[in-house]
Amino acid sequence: MALTFVLGLLGLLGGLSNYVPNPWSQEIPAARVSVANAQLTARALNERVENLLAKMTLDEKIGQLTQYSAGTMTGPGTARNDYNDLIAEGQVGSLFNVVGAKLTNRFQRIAVEKTRLHIPLLFGFDVIHGERTIFPVPLALASSFDPVLVEQVSHVAAEESADDGIRWVFSPMVDIARDARWGRITEGAGEDTFLGSVMAAAYIRGYQGDDLTRPDAVAACVKHFAAYGAPNAGREYNTVDMSELTLRQVYLPPYHAAIKAGAATVMSAFNPLNGVPATADPFTLTKILRQEWGFQGFVVSDFGAVKELIAHGVASNGAVAAFKALSAGVDMDMMSDLYRTKLADLVKSGDLPESVVDEAARRVLRVKFALGLFDHPYVDENHLPYVATPEKRALARRAAEESLVLLKNGPKPVPYAGTVLPIARNTPTIALIGPLADSQIDMLGSWSGVGDAADAVTLLNAMQDRCDWAKTKLLYAKGTEILTDSDAGFAEAIAIAKKADVVVLALGESAPKMTGESSSLTRLGLPGNQEDLLEAVASLGKPTVLVLFDGRPLAIKWAAQHVPAILEAWYPGIEAGPAVADILFGNVNPSGKLTATFPRAVGQEPLFYNQLPTGRPADDIDLTHPPTGEDKYFSRYIDETNAPLFPFGFGLSYTAFGYANVTLSQSKIAADALTQPKAGHFFAPASEIRVAAQVRNTGAVAGTEVAQLYIRNTGGSVEEPVRELKGFQRVTLAPGETKQIEFTLGFDELSYYNLEMARVIEPTRYQVWVGGSSEATQGAEFEVTGP
Ligand code: BGC
Repeated sequence: MALTFVLGLLGLLGGLSNYVPNPWSQEIPAARVSVANAQLTARALNERVENLLAKMTLDEKIGQLTQYSAGTMTGPGTARNDYNDLIAEGQVGSLFNVVGAKLTNRFQRIAVEKTRLHIPLLFGFDVIHGERTIFPVPLALASSFDPVLVEQVSHVAAEESADDGIRWVFSPMVDIARDARWGRITEGAGEDTFLGSVMAAAYIRGYQGDDLTRPDAVAACVKHFAAYGAPNAGREYNTVDMSELTLRQVYLPPYHAAIKAGAATVMSAFNPLNGVPATADPFTLTKILRQEWGFQGFVVSDFGAVKELIAHGVASNGAVAAFKALSAGVDMDMMSDLYRTKLADLVKSGDLPESVVDEAARRVLRVKFALGLFDHPYVDENHLPYVATPEKRALARRAAEESLVLLKNGPKPVPYAGTVLPIARNTPTIALIGPLADSQIDMLGSWSGVGDAADAVTLLNAMQDRCDWAKTKLLYAKGTEILTDSDAGFAEAIAIAKKADVVVLALGESAPKMTGESSSLTRLGLPGNQEDLLEAVASLGKPTVLVLFDGRPLAIKWAAQHVPAILEAWYPGIEAGPAVADILFGNVNPSGKLTATFPRAVGQEPLFYNQLPTGRPADDIDLTHPPTGEDKYFSRYIDETNAPLFPFGFGLSYTAFGYANVTLSQSKIAADALTQPKAGHFFAPASEIRVAAQVRNTGAVAGTEVAQLYIRNTGGSVEEPVRELKGFQRVTLAPGETKQIEFTLGFDELSYYNLEMARVIEPTRYQVWVGGSSEATQGAEFEVTGP
């Protein structure tokens, strides 16, 4: 025992001798406090926190910094599975993966009734796109470009979670993801910073509302801070290495948007960022999060990440790991069991000032008070059991309908006439084929809370309903499994396809096995032998529709060339079948747009639209052939074009939209005016540029278009992307109708970081485009003038 202690101490000293104290820990500027979260900084609340803190022992304070999973494991466990004694001793501040009023109340009673100071537990859970009512996965929700919808969806998730005793959701994941190989691309809004920021704020509003004490509000947890979505080679948990310019310009804004919207908590990431594991990084956790952004809530580590500092090679043992994580700004230790077991000794030995523990405990307690947990620690156990009510289904259905993206809708093959979609109501026979056509579990997507697959309506069920009604004959064959090399089912699938007038193939990925955490891929084609099945069926020459159920953009080059219609459905949630069927039959007009670029080949990844310029752009080069001479020396591949298969912002409708008259309120604006708006001054120069355009429904049916505004800045001190989204609007138009739309470009949209990491507006030129995708062609230009 004594020997272990001495060895431990030596190890600790060894590790700590290299330790650089958090250089930013002492200065949190009071001026910024109120922007973060008024409730957390309210004087009355903080008086309660300080009164309590004054009564707490060191162990009790450390208890508040300790979190365990007491239910289904979402990562490696600790040696124990019973935390009752620790809870009763006040050594646990939070539990997660424990769901349900009865269960949470049972643990809560131990905390409230048995601990000396009666401090309630905070129950957390991964509520990512619904708790019991499962909505489309976040990547799909983002494709709606509808932040109001996202707010409604996350509010329902908050109500259901709160009913189940969960007042803290580990969501939203706002990590920008530019690489489809990374499995967690499904959990976020995709590749774009502007859209990601808008969605981040929408989730926070939905979860937290404007008052955390409301019984249906839950504390959000923005994750994974920072830049977890950019692992090298798309491999899960891998190193992230990027310039500070890119970090600030591309990756940080969505986290910041969430903090500005009032997010009460943050989860640090697993990855190292520029050589420092995110769990021990004072630069992100203290300097940026607390000093620059004024964050007042608390930071929880990711699952077991404090301990992983040892594997990262920056901590020689558990004590050093705990020391570094806490000092950097991780307030709560999720599942490493190191704060509880190491911090007290560190304080007693004088290595760690107790004030650092106090500050972390203060932050955790603030959130508990703000949630009203001290006044109402329990939840009603008698509310009616969960039912996916018609209202919830209606929201889930609308969310799914808005999330679907029509990627291709070509003419039917000869001798048929018209486009393949929508499927005509009087079609005599339809064949539905594929392993995703009738799989309830896959419709839920990854991280599906406590959703029940039995609530999910599959495409087969929904099409059967609609076909019965229309007296259409529906033939179904699974054809193959999601991942197999057996073609035993092919013959049956081909046979029913031959009998049909229209063929629908439902293909894609297994949600639980191939998407979400720890699901990185090196291949992005259809898994198993689904591509072979697709080719065999599509080559019959029938009007054929490919419906993709997946969690990421797939490299489906053959399908894009040979299958006349493709609908990207993602994982649409419990109303998957009805939403997809209604779009196939034309009862609903698709309106979703891609928020992650589809590659032609996996070797193009990471592939995203807002790339920085190159000195040798290949824009005017024919890339469809290997180079023959001078056309080689451009930024290109010699075996593939640079272009994506489907670009960011792209999505078709059953009608068509035209854009015209992109005009600007002025062609010049002074940098000074943008930087220092002289509000209220009669002669104040304009502090923003207004961009107007007309969008017209040029087709025959009503439809909704996501009109998008892009800019490019040329002439600044640093490179800016070839295009950047800076505004969008959903516009619903009757056939023939035209609407005038307007966007504004002010400091927030036009400023960028210079090499001193200051957000600046410089004298420069901007190009502007308005249109229906990142390849919009209608544009204008303006100049930002200097002094
Ligand atoms: C994930 C987090 C999640 C946590 C708790 C981790 O493995 O990275 O996103 O919130 O587990 O389940």
